Amino acid sequence: MGKVFGLLGHPVGHSMSPQIHNDAFNKEGIEAVYHAFDVKPELVREAISGLRALQIAGCNVTVPHKLAVMEFLDEIDEEARLIGAVNTIVNQDGKLIGYNTDGRGYVQSLLEEMNSDIKDKRILIIGAGGAARGVLTALLQHGIAHVAITNRTLEKANSFLALANNFSISAEAIDRIDAEERLHEFDVVINTTSVGMSPHIHETPLSLTKLRKESVVSDLIYNPLETTFLKEAKSQGALIINGVGMFVNQAALSFEYWTGKKPDREQMKKIVLQQLGGTTC
Ligand code: ATR
Repeated sequence: MGKVFGLLGHPVGHSMSPQIHNDAFNKEGIEAVYHAFDVKPELVREAISGLRALQIAGCNVTVPHKLAVMEFLDEIDEEARLIGAVNTIVNQDGKLIGYNTDGRGYVQSLLEEMNSDIKDKRILIIGAGGAARGVLTALLQHGIAHVAITNRTLEKANSFLALANNFSISAEAIDRIDAEERLHEFDVVINTTSVGMSPHIHETPLSLTKLRKESVVSDLIYNPLETTFLKEAKSQGALIINGVGMFVNQAALSFEYWTGKKPDREQMKKIVLQQLGGTTC
């Protein structure tokens, strides 16, 4: 009998995860299906009990349940604990273990698309929400020279400094005006906010007037594939990286936790780009 995997989120109607995972199961010859489960926030506990009762083999977890599922799992991996969120659950003989592959997936895409290391880079992160915490944790685990965090609500950026201090890395929280003024100091600029996401495609999180053309500008958003923020960066000569790589890599890492196999990430990317109707930037 085939295994059942799934996605817990709300809403899940537009998720591309079922398509990429079902295709990967097929290609790898694994008898399994992946289904998107729309779980209302007040029913998260019941959904996790359901995973146990139905012996669901593994799950992804997406907005808004990444934090909420944690208290109902049997074990939380160290990285997910640091990030404070779970996006992958593995059912190991009845024991539910929570992982987080988002940040690592992102750093992997950054390294691949930059084609150079980031250990000596000065990095600016825009945003201080869940996505930013995943990215920051993975960057710290990889090893970076300096990080600055800017956020609309500066106190939230300040609260990230303790995490950076654990890794003995120089870190600062700066307001938007400061970030814009000092943009030339940064080698890599990463937007983790939803500013610029469809349908608000004309919004940008930061003015790029002081950007150096040698810098890399990255956006976690993949719809649209090229945000106005990335378009502006590209027009100034910077290398741009969209969120497709992160989406594919986090999925591939989850797949590996569940099956022990590395899926074809190029094929996953092809499906995502087909869905989004474009070529990558
Ligand atoms: P996610 O899990 O996607 O990171 P989140 O935890 O709700 O979502 O965090 C959203 C981030 O985007 C926050 O940094 C938020 O800024 P605030 O902390 O000030 O709320 C940022 N954000 C969302 N909408 C924004 C907007 N219109 N302008 C600037 N920042 C915005």
